[in-house]
Amino acid sequence: MRTLLVTGAAGFIGSNFVRMLLNRKEQVKLVAFDKLTYAGNLANLQDLLAKHPDQLVFVKGDICDPAAVTKAFDDHKVTEVVHFAAESHVDRSILGSGPFVQANVVGTQVMLDVSKAKNVQKFLYVSTDEVYGTLPEDKPEIKFTEETPLQPNSPYSASKAGGDCLVRSYFHTFHMPVLTTRCSNNYGPYHFPEKLIPLFVTNLMEGKKVPLYGDGLNIRDWLYVEDHCDAIYTVLNKGRFGEAYNVGGNNEITNRVITETLIREMGKNWDEVVTYVKDRPGHDRRYAIDATKIQTELGWWPKYKFETAIKTTIQWYIDNQSWWRAIKSGEYLKYYETQYAGR
Ligand code: NAD
Ligand code: DAU
Repeated sequence: MRTLLVTGAAGFIGSNFVRMLLNRKEQVKLVAFDKLTYAGNLANLQDLLAKHPDQLVFVKGDICDPAAVTKAFDDHKVTEVVHFAAESHVDRSILGSGPFVQANVVGTQVMLDVSKAKNVQKFLYVSTDEVYGTLPEDKPEIKFTEETPLQPNSPYSASKAGGDCLVRSYFHTFHMPVLTTRCSNNYGPYHFPEKLIPLFVTNLMEGKKVPLYGDGLNIRDWLYVEDHCDAIYTVLNKGRFGEAYNVGGNNEITNRVITETLIREMGKNWDEVVTYVKDRPGHDRRYAIDATKIQTELGWWPKYKFETAIKTTIQWYIDNQSWWRAIKSGEYLKYYETQYAGR
């Protein structure tokens, strides 16, 4: 039986990944390994832990702690690693980059070293399109390919690029069986309400304004989270070691259009709810993914259309208010005030 150590499994994408595999009845054991930082939430896994006690186990631990990672390997006879765990929010990395270097660079180095010592059969690193930097908005024909040089612009993306380069180096130096995915922006259930879509949906439900950065014309390439999870599992099963695979839905949208969509779906009025605020420093203008490689080589295509999946997503936040209301209090409020005060 394959046993997957899924780091960051209590976060947004990691928990959706675990959920997808269990719903599909994939024949794998899953070790959900997570430090439960501010972004990690056991509530994201609770129903799955109760329903699948023979297939899913949760281990609280830090990827920067070699002893804790080694113990998880030994206790559960791990055969493969899917490495999601990271500090993931660009705005927080601008407030302070230390935790990002620690989790995303040092944590990845520890995961690689323990996995090497344990002769892991596969190691998949969940990277991001942000490692490529930014694209011009007046040249829509240019997209990120796997050959685009890594030119990260934020402390977050620089730390993810650090992990990405380490993974590459362990293939070339040690012939480790590594795989890398670089995906665009995800949306869907269990998305922490500091990111654009869940922040705006929940602010609108709370009767608050939505803070649009700069001119609101930055472009992101949005993909439903389950499509990303499916791409990761496809790369894990069929990808070539040492290769990186871009993942995206060919779905470039400006932040203004995202905001208009949410406002329309939630029956609000633009002039009453939108506030333009000072731009994010170093704000990347445009991301766009060329996903030809994963499509032609591995046969992966997104299944969800934005027009319907965004409605499903909004409905999830309407139906799960206790989930996000519990988050948007305490420490979160302090962060929100620091991030948006005086902007
Ligand atoms: P998230 O912030 O929702 O979840 C991150 C998880 O990692 C949390 O559960 C947190 O507790 C855990 N974690 C953080 N530091 C840890 C540590 N030291 N030890 C153990 N666990 C730790 O993030 P997400 O949006 O789910 O992103 C997951 C991964 O996917 C990240 O590597 C991110 O860079 C990448 N990614 C995200 C997106 C996106 O749109 N969200 C797109 C492409 C790639
Ligand atoms: O591209 C993949 C990346 O997408 C992932 O690697 C990151 O982990 C993930 O957080 C996401 O990064 P972004 O910075 O693109 O996502 P965020 O939701 O923070 O912002 C999306 C866009 O919306 C961006 O142009 C900034 C803007 N924005 C964001 C917030 C939180 C606003 O205008 N107002 C806001 O309040």
